[in-house]
Amino acid sequence: MTPPAKPTAPQSLAGIPVARTVGELRREIAQARAKGRKIGFVPTMGALHEGHVSLARISRARGAFGVVSIFVNPTQFAPTEDFNRYPRTEEADATKLRMAEACDLLFIPSPAEMYPKGFATHVAVGGPSEGLETDFRPHFFGGVATVVTKLLTQVGPDFAVFGEKDYQQLLVIKRLVADLNLPVEIVPGFTVREPDGLAMSSRNAYLSADERATAASMNRVLMEVGKAARRGMDLRAAEKMGEEALIEAGFQKVDYVAIRDAATLATLTKLDGPARVLAAAHLGKTRLIDNLGI
Ligand code: PAF
Repeated sequence: MTPPAKPTAPQSLAGIPVARTVGELRREIAQARAKGRKIGFVPTMGALHEGHVSLARISRARGAFGVVSIFVNPTQFAPTEDFNRYPRTEEADATKLRMAEACDLLFIPSPAEMYPKGFATHVAVGGPSEGLETDFRPHFFGGVATVVTKLLTQVGPDFAVFGEKDYQQLLVIKRLVADLNLPVEIVPGFTVREPDGLAMSSRNAYLSADERATAASMNRVLMEVGKAARRGMDLRAAEKMGEEALIEAGFQKVDYVAIRDAATLATLTKLDGPARVLAAAHLGKTRLIDNLGI
């Protein structure tokens, strides 16, 4: 009888150990826990920029063993979307994390590791996933909720960091974690912006030079909408003004400009508490989203 294969030591990328299977991941995490370390986790789809790195730095700032996953999750893309062209830049991603000393372990599973043959479970979250992104990408939050549930149970972190750039996603994950009693703290990370205000996003890499110049106006328009709403403009009129300003700036199609309750994303008729203005719009073949607290 052949003896069982010995566990293999994880490979590394740019000097960071890489687990590619759930078994390798759990062994590395058990070793860190045995040394008394808390575990911090940042899930990503790779193509990392300073926004992701800032989320990963939170694990370090909290003295935790920092795990970052890179997995371009097929279930959150519709067949018409950019799954195939989504940038895959593992080596460069690892180098950025290494330079920032922001990661102790990378988890880079294959699609077959995450969705083995026969996989038949789907996690659906109601509440904050209704409307906004779901009106335009109905498949999206189901795919995100399913993969994030898996990642959180695979990694078993003390806390996981999600960027405010994807604000509706952040609220969906908070709802999911509360509803399923997952023993993990969800930590929000601020949006990191380019000097002209454009929110950092892996999809910015798709923009031509002209589109890139136009893209910065999304942040400006959100600020104007927020100011108008705070000055007392009717909220539906402020949203309409924002949609028109985006088209005027050069966006071809606006999916929404919406002023919502910051905790629930419920539609507001007046501003009497923390609110958020959120937008999604198309520039050439690229769909950009952004949001601000108002
Ligand atoms: O925000 C993202 O990059 C993705 O939606 C996430 C949370 C990594 C799930 O695939």
